[in-house]
Amino acid sequence: MDYAVAKRMLGTSGLAVSALGLGCMGLSYHRSSTLDRNEAIALIRRAVDLGVTFFDTAQVYGPFTNEQLVGEALAPVRDDVVVATKFGEVDLDGRPAPSSRPELIQQTTDASLARLGVDTIDLLYQHRVDPDVPIEEVAGTVRDLIAQGKVRHFGLSEAGAHTIRRAHAVQAVTAVQSEYSLWWRTPEHEVLPACAELGIGFVPYSPLGRGFLTGAIDEHTTFDSADNRNELPRFTVEARQANQALVDRLRIIGERADATPAQLALAWILGQAPWIVPIPGTTKAGRLEENLRATTLELTSSDRAEIGRAASEVTIVGDRYPAELERKTNR
Ligand SMILES: NC(=O)c1ccc[n+]([C@@H]2O[C@H](COP(=O)([O-])OP(=O)(O)OC[C@H]3O[C@@H](n4cnc5c(N)ncnc54)[C@H](OP(=O)(O)O)[C@@H]3O)[C@@H](O)[C@H]2O)c1
Repeated sequence: MDYAVAKRMLGTSGLAVSALGLGCMGLSYHRSSTLDRNEAIALIRRAVDLGVTFFDTAQVYGPFTNEQLVGEALAPVRDDVVVATKFGEVDLDGRPAPSSRPELIQQTTDASLARLGVDTIDLLYQHRVDPDVPIEEVAGTVRDLIAQGKVRHFGLSEAGAHTIRRAHAVQAVTAVQSEYSLWWRTPEHEVLPACAELGIGFVPYSPLGRGFLTGAIDEHTTFDSADNRNELPRFTVEARQANQALVDRLRIIGERADATPAQLALAWILGQAPWIVPIPGTTKAGRLEENLRATTLELTSSDRAEIGRAASEVTIVGDRYPAELERKTNR
């Protein structure tokens, strides 16, 4: 790579990060090509060398092993990077516990600090809104953690616009992290306008459609038993066959624009607003470089429009999540 990755601000918070972050989940969790510890650390450090300063993990990834490896990998450059993690899906022992009780937030944040090996978590997200705990209480708990110096910035993941507003009134929300990509554009209806209005940054997760939009997956691809794409309706063989039409359109545009489908998918998101910072995941250094090149890809307005048209015209088959997981979003 012969350039520095540009920086972006997450809303009006003052938090500056590289224009693309690295989603670290798939290095050790929910994907088929997970790495051993040393390889994963090397991949994260390669990202740092290439100019990535924004790293995403969560308590539930593992649980816990992903936070540990992110902490170990970034220890030598701690002050130069922004580390984000998420609470609210597991208890202190890593058992499933979809809860944001204040006491649990406090205890699990202390445990995250220890696992990450840091004094302060740069960005702490609530992983999913807990319908049993008013968001004001959650925001107040994070406000206290900020006052104690344990956390710098507050984030929400997959929260609805109304919840974002209520939380922001108690403690400024720096970033909302939700799925957003060419095949999942629901945040455009309410969440992105709310972020724009309130000066909140937006962090699209699964910006490559969990790998599908890159063209590397087709109906013959098989996933490991631990890969959660096995449970996603959008990844059944029939859905993958049908959805290939979108990748085919990206390939055609990419030939003209001299870009891969992955680069087009990322460049299109980056062009949506300057306060949007996608966090694609990869276990491969070559793909990391490929994805980072999207930050300097200048799409013509007609290419942008054609990418958007392809996304609107191709009818995507299969829900992104099974119903019980979808119910936990947009609350
Ligand atoms: N807040 C939430 O609820 C939530 C939910 C899901 C994810 N996340 C975060 O978002 C991050 C990214 O999400 P994600 O991993 O689900 O989806 P993604 O970034 O859309 O796609 C990642 C997949 O694409 C493949 N890939 C990446 N670059 C590629 C390229 N240039 N060519 C071909 N294949 C490529 C990777 O495989 P290889 O490793 O083989 O390259 C990986 O399996 C996660 O790491 C996590 O931090 C958050």
